[in-house]
Amino acid sequence: MAVMVTGGAGYIGSHMAWRLVEAGEQVVVVDRLSAGFDWAVPAAAELIVADIADQDQVEAAMRRHGVDAVIHFAGSVIVPESVADPLAYYRNNTVASRSLIESAVRSGVSNFIFSSTAAVYGSPAAIPVREDAPLLPESPYGTSKLMTELMLRDAAAAHDLRYAALRYFNVAGADPEGRSGQSTESPTHLIKIAAEAATGKRPGLSVFGTDYPTPDGTCIRDYIHVSDLVDAHYLALQRLRAGGGNLVANCGYGRGHSVLEVIDAVKRVAGRDFPVEFQDRRAGDAVAIVADAGLARRELGWSPRYDDLETIVGHALRWEEILRSRNTAAPMRRDVVAGAPPRPSAKAPT
Ligand code: UFG
Repeated sequence: MAVMVTGGAGYIGSHMAWRLVEAGEQVVVVDRLSAGFDWAVPAAAELIVADIADQDQVEAAMRRHGVDAVIHFAGSVIVPESVADPLAYYRNNTVASRSLIESAVRSGVSNFIFSSTAAVYGSPAAIPVREDAPLLPESPYGTSKLMTELMLRDAAAAHDLRYAALRYFNVAGADPEGRSGQSTESPTHLIKIAAEAATGKRPGLSVFGTDYPTPDGTCIRDYIHVSDLVDAHYLALQRLRAGGGNLVANCGYGRGHSVLEVIDAVKRVAGRDFPVEFQDRRAGDAVAIVADAGLARRELGWSPRYDDLETIVGHALRWEEILRSRNTAAPMRRDVVAGAPPRPSAKAPT
C-alpha cells in the first residue's frame, strides 16, 4: 500500500509528503520539477521525475508500489497567468488530470484526493461560502479545476473510484518544523511577498486596491495554514480508505483578514517595517471570500491547529530566513534535508 503524491516537490505537496512519511506511509512523489524542488521531498519518499500525463511511467509506478491512493497537487496555480494563457492551464490542470484519473482507474487505484480551489466560486454573492453555492469561476484557473472536479464525479460514478475534492482558500505559512515552505522564485501570494519584504529580499510591496467595499477598503481572504490543510487531506485519505463516500469540501477557517491586516501582522511579528505603496485594483480580485468550513469539520473531524494569523505569518517568516541561510551556507538538496552530506548542485531560490 502506498500513496502517490503528484506535485510532491511543490509547496503544498511537499508538506503532504512529510505528513504522510511521519504517519508511516509509503510515499511515491511524481513531480516534473518545473516549479518544485527535489530537496523539498523527504528522503523517505521515492521521487519520480515525470509528467503526470506520462501514463506509462505513472501506471508502472502505481503498480510497482501497490499505490492505493493518489493525492493530486500537480498543476499551475497563478490566476492572472491563466487569463493570459488559458490553454496552458487547461493542458496542465484539466488534460493532465484526465490522464492521471485514467491511470488511476486502469491501475486499480480506488482513492483519489484532488486539490481544488475557492476559485471555483468566483465572487460569491454571500460569505461565508458553502460548498453548494453557485460555481461560477472567473478565471481559466478556476474553470480548469472545476472541470477536474466534474471529471472525478463522473469517473467515480462509472468506476471503482472514490474521491475527495478539497477547495482551498488562501494557503500560507510553512512547516512548523522548518522542513518545507513556499520556495517559488516568482511569488504572487500576499503573505509570501510580505515575508520577503520583511526579511529584506524585496524593498517593499504594493497593495492592489484600497477602494473595495470592506471596512478598510482592501480585499478580504481566509488564510489557512498549510499544515492544517495537509491534515485535512490526511483525514480525507483515511475516510476514503475506510469506504467513506465522496466528498467536496472547503478548506479554510471561516474568518477573513484584509490585506492591510495581513501586512500589519507581518510587520508586527517580524518586528520590522517596510515600505507599502497603494496601487489600483488587480484585475480579477474578488472583494471578499471566506469559507464556511463546517462540512470539513463535520465529515472529516478536522480540527485546525494553527488557526491564527500571527502563527501563520511567523512560520512564513521563519521559512524565509531558512531559505536565505541555507542558500548562504550550503545549497539545499534533497540529501541535505535528509541529513546526508551536501553534494554540489543547483541552488535553492534566493
Ligand atoms: N495582494 C496585494 N499585494 C500583493 C499580493 C496580493 O495587495 O503583492 C492582495 C491581492 O490583490 C488580494 C490579496 O492580496 O486582494 C490576496 O492575494 P493572493 O495573490 O495572495 O491570493 P488570491 O486571493 O488572489 O488567490 C488565492 C489563491 C488562488 C485561488 C484564490 C481563490 O492563491 O489559487 O485564492 O480565491 F484561486
